[in-house]
Amino acid sequence: MSVRASACGKAILFGEHAVVYGQPALAVPLPSLRAYAEVVEPPPKHGIIIEAVDVGRRITYPSGTEAKDLLSHGLRLTIMNTLAALGVQEIPALTIRLSAQLPQARGLGSGTAVTAALVRALAAYLGKTMPTELLSELVYQTEIVYHGHPSGIDNTVIAWERPVYYQRERPLQLLENLPAFHLVIADSGIASHTIQAVEQVRAAWQAQPARYEALFTQIGQLTADGLRALEAGNLALVGNLMNANQKLLREIGVSSAEIEHLTATALSAGALGAKLSGGGLGGCIIALVEKDSAMPVCQVLRREAHQVWLVEVHDANRD
Ligand code: MEV
Repeated sequence: MSVRASACGKAILFGEHAVVYGQPALAVPLPSLRAYAEVVEPPPKHGIIIEAVDVGRRITYPSGTEAKDLLSHGLRLTIMNTLAALGVQEIPALTIRLSAQLPQARGLGSGTAVTAALVRALAAYLGKTMPTELLSELVYQTEIVYHGHPSGIDNTVIAWERPVYYQRERPLQLLENLPAFHLVIADSGIASHTIQAVEQVRAAWQAQPARYEALFTQIGQLTADGLRALEAGNLALVGNLMNANQKLLREIGVSSAEIEHLTATALSAGALGAKLSGGGLGGCIIALVEKDSAMPVCQVLRREAHQVWLVEVHDANRD
C-alpha cells in the first residue's frame, strides 16, 4: 500500500523565546520546504522500521538493540502515542522512510515537520483521520523530548499549515486575510539546537529575572505591533519591527556573529527587515523583501550564506 505524507517547515516572524515565557509570537508555514514520511516496501515481519535517510539511521519499534538516543526516543514516542490516540492495539508491520527538504537544526522546524509527517503517514496507512488539534498535540508531546520546554508554537503552525498568532494559555488565532509577502531565508550553515538556546535563555532568565522579563515583554509588544502592521499591509513597518526584534534577540544572547553578518548583508542589499528565526545561536535568518528587491537580496546572500531560499508567504486557504 502506497502512503506518502508530508508536513511544512516554519519561520517565526516575531516573538521566539519570549513565547516560552507567555508572550505572543507570530509564525508562518513554509509550504515549499517540507518533510516527508513514506511507507515503503518491503514491510518487516513484525513491528515498524523507521529509515531516517537524512541522518543515516534505522530505528525499530518496539525498541531494538540500537542506541537509545534522543532521536530514537522521539520517534518511538511518536509512534506509541499515535497508535494509542488512534485506538490501534496491534502494531502494524511496515517500513516508513523519513526525509526532508528542510535543513536540520537551522530553526526552520525540520524535526517538528518530520514528526508531523510521521503521524500523518501512520494515520493514513491505518485508514484513520487525524484531526489537526490531535496532530498538533501528538507532535507537541514529541517536542518535549527534543526541546525540553517547548512553547507549542512550532507544532501549532506546522500542524495547521497556516499563519498563527500564538500565545500560551490563550485561544489560538489562525491569521486570515494577511497580505502575501516575500521572505528570503539564508542559512548560516551553523547547526543550532533549539534545546541549547532555550536552556541558555532559561539560565540567563533565572540569573536576571527582572531584566529578562522586561526584554520578553518588549518582544511581546513588538509582536503585537507586528501583527497590526502586517494586517494593514505596512511591510516597511513590519521590517522595522523585525529589526527591533533582532536587536532584542541579540540582547537576550541568542544571536551570533554569522547571524549578525547575514542580517546586515540582507539590509544593505535592500531588505525591509531581517532577523534570526527560531532558537538562534546559528541557524537561518529571514529577510522581508519587496518583490522588486527579492532578487538582489538573494544574490548578495548567496555569496555569504550556505543556502538561500526565496519563499512567498500567503494563506493557502485564500486560494
Ligand atoms: C523555536 O522555534 C522557538 C522557540 O521560541 C522555542 C519554543 O517556542 O518552543 C525558541
